[in-house]
Amino acid sequence: MTCKIFIANPIAEFAIQELKELGEVNYQPSVNVDDLPNQIGDSNILIVRSIHVTSETITKAKDLQLIIRAGAGCDSIDIKKATEKGIFVCNCPGTNSNAVAELVIGFMICADREIPQTTEKLKEGIWCKNKFKNAIGLYGRNIGIVSLGFIGKCVAKAAKGLGMNVYAYDTRKSQEVMNQWGITKIETLSELVQISDVVTVHIVSNEQTKHMFNEEIFKQFKDGAIFINTARGEIVDQSCLPKIVKEKGLKIALDVYENEPSWHSEEFPYTELSAHSVCLSPHIGAITDQSEEATGRMTVEIAKSWISEKKLPMIGIK
Ligand code: MLT
Repeated sequence: MTCKIFIANPIAEFAIQELKELGEVNYQPSVNVDDLPNQIGDSNILIVRSIHVTSETITKAKDLQLIIRAGAGCDSIDIKKATEKGIFVCNCPGTNSNAVAELVIGFMICADREIPQTTEKLKEGIWCKNKFKNAIGLYGRNIGIVSLGFIGKCVAKAAKGLGMNVYAYDTRKSQEVMNQWGITKIETLSELVQISDVVTVHIVSNEQTKHMFNEEIFKQFKDGAIFINTARGEIVDQSCLPKIVKEKGLKIALDVYENEPSWHSEEFPYTELSAHSVCLSPHIGAITDQSEEATGRMTVEIAKSWISEKKLPMIGIK
């Protein structure tokens, strides 16, 4: 029987073509979360990127067997409901790690050197050489990585290349394992933020990590430290950030926000921080040609293995 594949977000073009060779593809890159339950029909495989797969979509799906998340995090999928219905959920681990790590390094340098702010000044015709003197410099500084998954490890490697001292908070990894990458294990988040000049977050988003970064933790940061979040907005209580930035001179760089993709610039608290070092981007961490290609490849590999053998492949990029 022909496999019905529903693709609900844009993925690499070559992957769409290869999926068409595997089954009947329904490509709906603009479908929205409210319409998905009515459109899913009797599809067997659902491929998603940003769109949420709600309990309603899963309930209404008549013959769904597998949901492939063309990315790393699966927090946008109701896994509990899927599991109840015997539907497998699979992600593409490691395919966008380098892309996200590159953004982290770019953010770190931009935040320290205040490049977005100097750009704005020069665009206004203002020569501002002596106005920006807050850069701490990164060589020999401490970077604290929260969670050492695929992305955390890529960041650690790149930070080592810049001559930084790398520390990590990850309760699942031992010091012996961290030794292989030249990283020092730190036992608590509190301790990590107190010793770090740069803190970068790479942990999964779930009930346990929601608002893990809150006012109490931010108060323990070093004054003038750099805080980077390219993981998920929900990990940070973003309502306290403007106050903390002003009080502690924290430099912040964010690619992710609470309640994405709704974005109301007039309500967004960072607009009042024009005098501070703030770098913002709209969840572009995984968007590079290399990452889109690797994710597309893995998506096809998973679908192929499922269609031919009803098995998920052994996946993961080392
Ligand atoms: C992911 O979970 O893979 C990343 O956040 C990338 C994305 O969703 O665009």
